[in-house]
Amino acid sequence: MHSLHQPLALLADPQCPADRVRLLTESLGLPLATEVRGSALLLHLSPERLELSKPGDPDLPGALWVDFTRPAARKRALHPGRELLVQAAKVRHAASPLVIDATAGLGRDGFLLAAAGFQVRMFECNPIVAALLQDGLERAARSPQIAAIIERMRLTVGNVLDYLQQPAEQPEVIYLDPMFPERSKAAKVKQDLQLLQLLDDQSQAPELLLQAALAIRPKKVVVKRPLKGPLLAGPAPSYTLKGKAIRFDVYVGG
Ligand SMILES: C[S@@+](CC[C@H](N)C(=O)[O-])C[C@H]1O[C@@H](n2cnc3c(N)ncnc32)[C@H](O)[C@@H]1O
Repeated sequence: MHSLHQPLALLADPQCPADRVRLLTESLGLPLATEVRGSALLLHLSPERLELSKPGDPDLPGALWVDFTRPAARKRALHPGRELLVQAAKVRHAASPLVIDATAGLGRDGFLLAAAGFQVRMFECNPIVAALLQDGLERAARSPQIAAIIERMRLTVGNVLDYLQQPAEQPEVIYLDPMFPERSKAAKVKQDLQLLQLLDDQSQAPELLLQAALAIRPKKVVVKRPLKGPLLAGPAPSYTLKGKAIRFDVYVGG
């Protein structure tokens, strides 16, 4: 675990309900900023949404927020069967299988799994990332076109390793995407994800996640890896599905 110690504060527009502002500052332990100053990292709450930004840094994109109603996201959700992730995760003889998305991030993969009919239990240990995701889920739940998908997604903030010690439900599938974006400007990280690099990485070693996931004995554990990345230490995957830049290692068990 490493930290860049970026100062982070919450900036709330005056129209935002005071109780929501208080809940966010208290649950995230953030000071309330009264103005945009310097190039500190800001969590900005407006009546429309919660977003992460770093005003004053010309190298970074404007802001990052979660939006499942974006046309590109909705388009992908129309044909989930085309997604390599969905092909990797699919299980036979289960009408609405339960998947633990152990590394929820911004919920992009979780959304695809939910669009494919999975009940998705998402876990995210970084409270800032989780707050962005929760805000995106709440907004999307009000969008009639995708509300049914969002209903299948549930987020828990915390370390999934704690949950996996004694899971409340037996999942058919556990999905792991431990690739926290590289902390390098040179890395080919999608523009909006560069902002995430500035947050503390609270991730656990991916091997620990794999070990804990296999111990639950789900039908499948699916791990997203860089295409040429090494296998995670542990048993060899049963098979691999390869995309252009990433691959899914699938461990069949159960
Ligand atoms: C590469 S991102 C996942 C991206 C996600 N698949 C998506 O589609 O948006 C990995 C995320 O897993 C989270 N994470 C890592 N270890 C975790 C753990 N032990 N428990 C919960 N979340 C964890 C990190 O904080 C990070 O946000």
